[in-house]
Amino acid sequence: MNLFERNQKQRNFFNEKIDSYDQVHETYMETKKTLAESLDKNTSKILDLGAGTGLELIHLFELYPNASVTVIDISENMLNELSKRNFSKNVTIICGDFFESNFGNDYDAVISTSALHHFKPEEKLILYKKIFDCLKSNGLFINCDKISLSQEEQNNSMYELENNIDNYKHIDTPLTVENEINILKQVGFIDVSSSKVDKSDYSLIKARKGN
Ligand SMILES: C[S@@+](CC[C@H](N)C(=O)[O-])C[C@H]1O[C@@H](n2cnc3c(N)ncnc32)[C@H](O)[C@@H]1O
Repeated sequence: MNLFERNQKQRNFFNEKIDSYDQVHETYMETKKTLAESLDKNTSKILDLGAGTGLELIHLFELYPNASVTVIDISENMLNELSKRNFSKNVTIICGDFFESNFGNDYDAVISTSALHHFKPEEKLILYKKIFDCLKSNGLFINCDKISLSQEEQNNSMYELENNIDNYKHIDTPLTVENEINILKQVGFIDVSSSKVDKSDYSLIKARKGN
């Protein structure tokens, strides 16, 4: 199954999950709060990749009420929920695949939570290059996402992705923090760092575009 087909599978998965999504993800609110608190103080123009129903934007708009946020997400049902939130007037919504959509440019920050752990390292290289290119000089990428706790765990999930994808409705293939950091450095990010959040299989990774 190629990347396009896998992404359509994700789309169907999240479209079907919509009724229970916010309830299931309530336990991740602390993680999303940490992300919003990690932004630079002068942040104004933000791109959120895989914003879903917009849970991470609740706290973000409390801290940055005048922020202008663009979101890209492949699931129309998730975005429909986001569009009902009271901050949605400050949000430009793009329904599309990360790998097909135009990201725009000149963002102060690109953020993402729980949305990028489905790609192979070579696909992440392409995606992170797109993120690098759409940031302003000195802009920040913050990804708070699921990680593999060992190379073996990463290899096992990648094996399933390569060989058994048809047997899954949805498959998580997180990379280790070390592999994430290496890919970010390869595309040119500097000051790449990771920190723990309240979930043991999650990490908050920050990476900066230089001047
Ligand atoms: C687990 S949800 C996270 C939603 C939100 N960020 C949160 O933390 O609650 C993952 C989101 O990523 C979106 N997504 C997954 N793969 C995508 C892709 N290739 N292009 C665009 N959106 C994608 C899904 O539709 C879904 O809304």
